Amino acid sequence: MNAEMLYALRDVAGVPSHPVTFLILGVLTFALHILAVQVMLGASGLVIWGALSKAAYQRQLAQAMLGVAKIAVSVAVVLGVAPLLFVQVIYDPFWYTSNVLSAWWVIGFIVILTVAYLLMYFFYAKNHHLGTQKTICPGSMILSLALMLVVGFIMHVLTYQMLSPDQWMQWYAPNGEIDASGRKLHDYNLWRFGFFISLSVLVISGWLFAYRHYISHRTDVDNGYLQWLKGLATVLSLAGGIVALAFGIGWMATLPDSQAGFGFSPWVGLAAVLISLTAVMPKLIGSRVNAPLFGYGLFGLAAITVIVVAIAREVLRWNILFGDFGYNALDYPVNMDWYSTLLFFGTFVIIGGLVLSYFLTVAWQAGQTEGVYTPSPAVTRLGNLSILLITLWIIHFFVLGLWVWLR
Ligand code: HEM
Repeated sequence: MNAEMLYALRDVAGVPSHPVTFLILGVLTFALHILAVQVMLGASGLVIWGALSKAAYQRQLAQAMLGVAKIAVSVAVVLGVAPLLFVQVIYDPFWYTSNVLSAWWVIGFIVILTVAYLLMYFFYAKNHHLGTQKTICPGSMILSLALMLVVGFIMHVLTYQMLSPDQWMQWYAPNGEIDASGRKLHDYNLWRFGFFISLSVLVISGWLFAYRHYISHRTDVDNGYLQWLKGLATVLSLAGGIVALAFGIGWMATLPDSQAGFGFSPWVGLAAVLISLTAVMPKLIGSRVNAPLFGYGLFGLAAITVIVVAIAREVLRWNILFGDFGYNALDYPVNMDWYSTLLFFGTFVIIGGLVLSYFLTVAWQAGQTEGVYTPSPAVTRLGNLSILLITLWIIHFFVLGLWVWLR
């Protein structure tokens, strides 16, 4: 496999904006995706832990985390589509080949994810009062988490296979015999996969501190529960940090020979420092964790750590594809389309920003209110404005489509 072959697999239409835009957005959205995945995995683990226990606090936490897990899946899915779009724009020769080589799993991914999500909702439907009533069918939640991990593993394999263009021919036609079934997952690295999954322990610990702070203002929350949460989150933070570092070291030790020195690069060093800092921070700040800055800040720190991990992961991909195979994603021919670029950022900032502010305000205020929540006139106006803007956006979408079609 030579560089010309890889370049020949590019889209002849070029890309509609500078490739660096897609590269940066790809890293950022991947970081957000994996953060939501980690919250979902961590919350699901706590749900199972609580659902199988008789201890009151564990069950109370399980009930709260079930709500978190089911929302986090939808956030992870929505935020998974974004890096999917960006990776296939600038790395299309690699991404599509990897997908076609395991096509059966790419389609299976959707079915498995659907079943996993349905199982979670089944468990939710059967266990509305996990805090006070006996658990019904915990197996559905366990199976849901196991299938979510299978989904993540498929994503890992697709991302991993794209880094080995020198092996594609061997996978496509082992010993000269073509295998076009797409049924095989050809390559994986359990250290790398384990690293991203194990980070969920560290991330959920930050989430628990934020959750604890969020509910601490409510009069119906028992102080013993808040103390217990603090102890649990501190232990999870330390344990999560150690496990993630161990998997990270395993990943760096199993890199291809050409990238053996990457483990000592500044980005990896920074990621390792941030993981360690996030892990020990609850111990360092002690009782200051009750202040809003620290209560919410610990999750913020975990998010920054994940962004740096995502940058390091991208630098590694760049080093492999450019360093080992001569493919430069940044020299993708640009066929500048200002309208779609402005539309993208406009939608993201104006519509996304406004609608998200509305949702977050309502969710935040509703969660802090005892009894029935009624939004203020200002919040209602924000909601109406969001609906108006979305309606205008949809009309614009069809009008533009018709104009292009009839032109
Ligand atoms: C809900 C369960 C999911 C889990 C546990 C999961 C987990 C993961 C993991 C661990 C990775 C990193 C793989 C690696 O670098 O080795 C990853 C990457 C990725 N995931 Fe997910 N994922 C899930 C769902 C989704 C969904 C539904 C989508 C898309 C709709 C998606 C899109 C992506 C993409 C595009 C990447 C690679 C991004 C890149 O290489 O730049 N994921 N996911």
